[in-house]
Amino acid sequence: MAINALASGLPLLLLTLIFQLQLRCGSSGITSPYRRRLQASEDLPVGSEFLRPPDLAGCGNAPEQVHITQGSVTADSMIVSWVTPSQPGSLAVTFGNETAKYSRTATGNITRYKYANYTSGYIHHVKLTNLEYATKYYYRLGDGECAREFWFVTPPKSGPDVAYTFGVIGDLGQTYDSLNTFQHYLNSSGQTVLYVGDLSYADHYPLGDNTRWDTWGRLVEPSTAYQPWIWTAGNHELDYRPEFSEVVPFKPYLHRYQTPHRSSKSTSQLWYSINRASAHIIVLSSYSAYGKYTPQWAWLQNDLQNINRKKTPWVIVLMHSPWYNSNMYHYMEGETMRVQFEAWLVQYKVDIVFAGHVHAYERSHRVSNIEYNVVNGQCSPSRNESAPVYITVGDGGNIEGLAGNFTQPQPNYSAYREASFGHAMLEIKNRTHAFYYWHRNQDGEAVKSDSTWLTNRHNYVKEKRSLPRRRLPL
Ligand SMILES: [Fe+2]
Repeated sequence: MAINALASGLPLLLLTLIFQLQLRCGSSGITSPYRRRLQASEDLPVGSEFLRPPDLAGCGNAPEQVHITQGSVTADSMIVSWVTPSQPGSLAVTFGNETAKYSRTATGNITRYKYANYTSGYIHHVKLTNLEYATKYYYRLGDGECAREFWFVTPPKSGPDVAYTFGVIGDLGQTYDSLNTFQHYLNSSGQTVLYVGDLSYADHYPLGDNTRWDTWGRLVEPSTAYQPWIWTAGNHELDYRPEFSEVVPFKPYLHRYQTPHRSSKSTSQLWYSINRASAHIIVLSSYSAYGKYTPQWAWLQNDLQNINRKKTPWVIVLMHSPWYNSNMYHYMEGETMRVQFEAWLVQYKVDIVFAGHVHAYERSHRVSNIEYNVVNGQCSPSRNESAPVYITVGDGGNIEGLAGNFTQPQPNYSAYREASFGHAMLEIKNRTHAFYYWHRNQDGEAVKSDSTWLTNRHNYVKEKRSLPRRRLPL
């Protein structure tokens, strides 16, 4: 009788166990069912109102493609860059705290380059130094009929509870979708853009038509002239094209986009770090050597060791090629850099890693995969409270279109993924909490398609040593 009762209850027991097992084993993340067209996007025509040079009456050499970026580790300087098309024009930037009243002048340098059959305009770079914190500056480029005025606001001096809002954009390009993403960002509360690489996609054109670098500079000027964009180089910045004898990697990018690398003891524009508000931001180059003993390897080790978490508790790493990517597009391309650097990011409790490259959106849980030593077979990502959250935002909207083919099933480390264009925002509130969210372009700026609170690894997770890792449910 007892055996019969047990037998009759067995199927129910098994069903319950299977259900519970599914809850534990099933993907803990969300693959968004949201779908939109997946065909390649189309670039804005060169004559588009968004890509035209400024039309200043009487000036045939107007400053254009104006962009600014932080000029030193400590944010007390700003690099102002612009292009004049036909002549050097004025070499100076005049600036001050009132519009049209400039108390100071700075001068810098001009560079030009040739690429295939293209010759660049006059590319100006001027550093404004000794800036006050939390102050609005007006600055003017050009003289007379060619004068143009812009402004920017410096961040508060770095401190653990300095609130600050970053936008995060990647792989933007210059299509109608790119414009959509960019205009969404213009309506945001972002104070600085963390740009994770692949800018103009000029290399899509025959001979890597560098006039598309110029049009991209004009497209983004409504933001880049007014707030710093923190630049990361992507594969579309390489411009290594032996087939038409262009063999100097990153030539157009390095002429056009300066970074404050020397200030952070880097020997290359392609990797560097800055402090801004309560964040220490590290920029890595996915397409430069990073093996043991290389300059980038040595620099990163030194930089991580010297972060002052009492001043900048948030540590954010930018790179182009993601380490945790469950999209078939560019699958595993970031793996060798992950193997090289991931243990350091866990050791130093990096909070967030932003990457681009994959034209879709994905956010991970806090995971690491640093146990493997060739012989132990432990090569699965596992939950690790000392590890960063990995976020891929290569969804700016470029000409190559969306990457809609995710691996199935969704891996346990992946919290949310969706093949839509958009941009992300990071609102740092204080030394322990930040609010992160992502927008898809089809929704209004007020709609957050994915969002989460992030807690600081240094201040919120009190343990001084790495916490024991808990493997994901099998
Ligand atoms: Fe890329």
